[in-house]
Amino acid sequence: MARIVIIGSGIAGLFAALRLADSGHVVTVITKQRPIDSSTNWAQGGIAAILDKTDGEGLDSHISDTLTSGDGMCDEEVVRSVIEESGARIHDLLNIGVKFETDVDGGFHFVKEGGHSQRRILHAKDATGKEIERALNDAASSHKNITLKPNTLAMDLIQRQHQYPDAGIAGVWCLNQENDTVFTEPSDILMLATGGVGQLWSQTTNPPVATGDGLAMAYRAGAAVKDMAFIQFHPTALAIKSDRPFLITEAMRGEGGVILDEEGLRNWQEEMESAGGNASTILPGPFSFTLKHSPLGSMATRDIVARAIDQRLKETGEKHVYLITSHLDQEHLLNHFPNIQQRLDRHGLKLGQDPLPVSPAAHYIVGGLAVDEVGRPYCRESNAIMPSLYAIGEVACTGMHGANRLASNSLLEAVVYAARAANHIIESMPQTNDSQLPNWRADGLADLTEHVSLTHDRESLCNTMSREVGIVRRFNRLHRASRRLQLLAKEVDFIWRRALPSRQIVELRNLILVGQLVTEDAEKRTENRGLHYNTDLIDREER
Ligand code: FAD
Ligand code: SIN
Repeated sequence: MARIVIIGSGIAGLFAALRLADSGHVVTVITKQRPIDSSTNWAQGGIAAILDKTDGEGLDSHISDTLTSGDGMCDEEVVRSVIEESGARIHDLLNIGVKFETDVDGGFHFVKEGGHSQRRILHAKDATGKEIERALNDAASSHKNITLKPNTLAMDLIQRQHQYPDAGIAGVWCLNQENDTVFTEPSDILMLATGGVGQLWSQTTNPPVATGDGLAMAYRAGAAVKDMAFIQFHPTALAIKSDRPFLITEAMRGEGGVILDEEGLRNWQEEMESAGGNASTILPGPFSFTLKHSPLGSMATRDIVARAIDQRLKETGEKHVYLITSHLDQEHLLNHFPNIQQRLDRHGLKLGQDPLPVSPAAHYIVGGLAVDEVGRPYCRESNAIMPSLYAIGEVACTGMHGANRLASNSLLEAVVYAARAANHIIESMPQTNDSQLPNWRADGLADLTEHVSLTHDRESLCNTMSREVGIVRRFNRLHRASRRLQLLAKEVDFIWRRALPSRQIVELRNLILVGQLVTEDAEKRTENRGLHYNTDLIDREER
């Protein structure tokens, strides 16, 4: 029986594991914290889908919105095929036990987010990811063919024969964080489902596990990466000093929430006062600075709204703008967004009443490991498929999102590619390979007694990425970041070669490498597209 190892227990990893296990394969899922710890678990808005494959108009408009958001860089074939497959994958999720919100009449309830021209996003109130993760974990943990290995950190991929990437991957070295020992996990098929890289920036909506490990491991093993400069910053993360940048879902704007700056808020309030304080007749929308950037205002695509906020904050010197909901039905908001209200309770804020301080935060990497239509990465050197390796979910770049991902298309892409990769493995009946694997090079390494220098290096890395490789870029700043990252890479490599591995150094080493790949790609770009915006480049024509 072929040994199938999946790294990551978010939507991509667990969905693939279940499909493989249901077909009789035995699967090991390695995950670095608890199985639920993932971006998937924190997803709010939902999953975009067209349930009925014969709904031509619905398919066409979802495709068209995705292409528009991607700013001319999506792979149209990929977009069409993923959206056409969306209904089937939603039915799979329902069969696994995911419960999406329904209307009073029993049909599904759909929400809308920025860049969507229609309500087509299935959700579970404002904690869709938590519900998906719950159902997948329930099914995986009780499946006889799946072994879950929590608190296990994958560190590096083991290449087959001669360290040559074309030969494929034979396993992975892992750190068992329960007893601090390194072990070798052999594989005939290895699937990377390790998620994103948000922890590279000081302000991120991502969970602590999002440190780009899969990307870095595969790159070191010879895989090709694509579109790394396209980093999506979510416009509305809660901006309160004592809290992390907790996401306020775009679905809030889909229900009518509006972004105002200090001046817009003042003007709107004055206007309301002079009209007798009636918020339902004087709406906040026309007072939003975002209208200068797009006629869609607060509901424009994320790249546009995040950039508009970034620019405004730089102009005013303020630390945040506001998300306004006081003109909306409070009962509806509290019913729809209980997870967000629970977080706001910590700060004495109420939906439908208080302006919410928000600012952009790193959210999603559009680029990643370049993969084919079933999730197989390419070799950087030869452009051939890397045998026995798959990459699915946020770690991969399929061409679906182009230069800017449309909201709620990520969970969709992850589940579609997880199914395709699993199907491909099932159909290709992988061979077992019992060749002896090398041990980890741990002999003679010393325990790292002080981690403080690593903490400083990580802070320095995040500061560099936030200041120099953020929403708005310039060549001189990118070059400066590049030089700093090179120094950090040298410094950390020096420690890496001498010390026994710890989670701290493994993640830092990976983050630096991914930071270098993002910066390098941004330095090379000669035009502004979607999420990449360099003021030294001439803007493309107004979209
Ligand atoms: P993840 O769900 O991040 O899972 C990665 C897994 O890999 C984790 O289990 C992690 O522990 C494990 N892992 C990583 N490195 C290692 C290692 N070295 N060793 C072992 N295990 C490792 N998208 C939408 O479409 N709709 C939304 O509403 C939405 N809302 C979002 C809200 C938030 C706050 C965030 C952060 C993202 C949101 N996204 C949303 C994006 C979406 O959630 C992610 O892109 C998607 O969940 C990624 O799934 P994944 O399976 O690829 O990775
Ligand atoms: C959100 O709910 O705003 C996040 C949706 C996404 O990232 O797709």
